[in-house]
Amino acid sequence: MQKPPSNAYHDFTEYLQQKSGITLGSEKEYLVNSRLKHIMFENGIVKLDDLLKQLKLNSNLCSRVIDAMTTNETLWFRDSHPFEILKNRIIPELLKANKHSTIRIWSAACSTGQEPFSISMAFDEYKNKHPNFNLNFNTFATDLSSKVLESAKKGIYHELAIERGLSKSAKQKYFTEMDDGYWKINTEMMKNVKFESINLKDNLSRAGQFEVIFCRNVLIYFTNELKREILVKLHKQLKPGGYLFIGAGESMLDLSDYFELIHFKPGIVYKKK
Ligand SMILES: C[S@@+](CC[C@H](N)C(=O)[O-])C[C@H]1O[C@@H](n2cnc3c(N)ncnc32)[C@H](O)[C@@H]1O
Repeated sequence: MQKPPSNAYHDFTEYLQQKSGITLGSEKEYLVNSRLKHIMFENGIVKLDDLLKQLKLNSNLCSRVIDAMTTNETLWFRDSHPFEILKNRIIPELLKANKHSTIRIWSAACSTGQEPFSISMAFDEYKNKHPNFNLNFNTFATDLSSKVLESAKKGIYHELAIERGLSKSAKQKYFTEMDDGYWKINTEMMKNVKFESINLKDNLSRAGQFEVIFCRNVLIYFTNELKREILVKLHKQLKPGGYLFIGAGESMLDLSDYFELIHFKPGIVYKKK
């Protein structure tokens, strides 16, 4: 029979949920212990209770704990269809509307940068096929975790990470080889991407207005209530008729007053109503 969760674990899950929205079930005590053991050891903390007390006094420790509790799994061109829809449907539609000099895109849980840099590559691929293309774009790439943002800003990846989702030709075209199996993404792919820390739980109006938002594979960590709140806030940050991509395994809840589900073969996207 499974051991009931400790009081300290219960208090920790409440703390984490309040800070990040990340919701952990009662069966995840082992996960918390394994993800926090190094931080606790380095800070001479033995019990979770004591860590909680320290967290209230030490914002640096708090940020390290949040970093440790986020799941940052990502890859290049994840699920492929959002990038195909961007190139084959959304860019041509925006060009036709002819009222945009710069398209603003938000990668709202960007992890180590694969998503926003895949967007840069999608634009580059489009440009190569359409030499008269005259649209600028900016990607605002944000995450709660300072650790992944630091790594994304460097644009340096081990070859094992590069090979997850990226073709050999894209690797040669968009990266420069460094030492010890590391590759750096070219400046051209970085220059339109701006990284910043934003917690999706917070007021999102400072992010500004966007034609397209990618908010993928992060809502799964939240309660339905918080997920709904965030989706309504994202709706506000979309320009009229703007598009929202969520993760392939994520659902929209009942927000049909806010978004229209559009089937673009081979995938779906939500359009602001
Ligand atoms: C699994 S990754 C998804 C990365 C990318 N969007 C993708 O689909 O490949 C989830 C990211 O969400 C971030 N995250 C978790 N809670 C967050 C919050 N409250 N606000 C902003 N980002 C958050 C994590 O730090 C992590 O980098």
